[in-house]
Amino acid sequence: MVKLGNIFLRYSVAIFLFRVIIWSSNNYKLMVMADVPAIFVFGDSTVDVGTNNHLAGSLATANNPYYGIDYPHHVATGRFSNGYNPADFIARHLGDYTESPPAFLALVQKQSTFKSGILRGVNFASAGSGILDDTGNKGFNLYNLGARKFGICGIPRIGCLPGIRAATPGGACNETLNGYAQIFFNTTLSLLQDFSSANPGMNFSLGNYFLMTTGVIDNPAASGFVEVEAACCGTGPYKGWFKCTENSDLCKKRDEYLFWDWFHPTQRASEMAALSLLYATGQEFVTPINFTTLANIQH
Ligand SMILES: *[C@@H]1O[C@H](CO)[C@@H](O)[C@H](O)[C@H]1NC(C)=O
Ligand SMILES: *[C@@H]1O[C@H](CO)[C@@H](O)[C@H](O)[C@H]1NC(C)=O
Ligand SMILES: *[C@@H]1O[C@H](CO)[C@@H](O)[C@H](O)[C@H]1NC(C)=O
Ligand SMILES: *[C@@H]1O[C@H](CO)[C@@H](O)[C@H](O)[C@H]1NC(C)=O
Repeated sequence: MVKLGNIFLRYSVAIFLFRVIIWSSNNYKLMVMADVPAIFVFGDSTVDVGTNNHLAGSLATANNPYYGIDYPHHVATGRFSNGYNPADFIARHLGDYTESPPAFLALVQKQSTFKSGILRGVNFASAGSGILDDTGNKGFNLYNLGARKFGICGIPRIGCLPGIRAATPGGACNETLNGYAQIFFNTTLSLLQDFSSANPGMNFSLGNYFLMTTGVIDNPAASGFVEVEAACCGTGPYKGWFKCTENSDLCKKRDEYLFWDWFHPTQRASEMAALSLLYATGQEFVTPINFTTLANIQH
């Protein structure tokens, strides 16, 4: 993982390469449906819910229109989406949440509710984060502190992101990058298998974003998408030159687009991905168990 993190950072395709969602199982109560007591989210812009709004000088921000155009009250919250992101949908389906737990940096600003707030979970995701040599070994960052259930997602078909197509001759996908995404999945899976056999009591689900996005790109109509190459909001070819701003071209039918901006999925694509992670049967999209089964394990 450390090595892979390095590869990705070195080629720095984007900013947004790994996404990890983790929740702990302490005091887990079994209810009709999974009802997790707390969710802790780690990752990059795909699951950031406003962390970077609090980082002075950060350029990786999404707190301007048209971000949030489909979020309640049409506000830009810092999510890199027209509405919600996958962490929001996962939280909504796993328990009594309307969206992801708040960003840690938002929670600490309200000391009166900080302690009660963190008991339901925290979102630490920050756009632009990656796996570095000196942070990558902390993942099992977390087993030693008591985390037992790890829901992890691989990397999508990153060579086909609008921001990459815009930089590739002819608007083609960059297959080198797609190859890295597959290697990342395979290596992460072996690492998790080794770790869980050596550490009983730990369970994981690994989502295969690569296969999910490949399915949609190869056959958009099957899932109701019309445009799977260009972004909905942006500038330049494939609207892949720059982030979404108020001066960007904005598409009309956002639910028909796979990509919202140069690097991120639309709310609709995020919801579909979350539903696959949560409820997929079979091993194709999430392995060895889906997120619902993971949440329901009693330790
Ligand atoms: C694909 O991405 C790799 C890594 O960034 C880069 O070295 C290569 O030049 C790219 N290929 C094309 C065709 O753009
Ligand atoms: C990843 O693993 C699958 C299943 O074992 C295999 O078919 C595929 O070739 C592997 N891909 C890479 C890039 O290693
Ligand atoms: C959870 O992990 C344990 C080993 O840590 C394993 O024996 C068990 O089968 C896993 N549960 C599920 C539902 O996969
Ligand atoms: C999740 O996976 C289990 C085991 O494959 C399957 O029985 C179940 O239908 C899937 N969906 C949900 C919601 O648990």
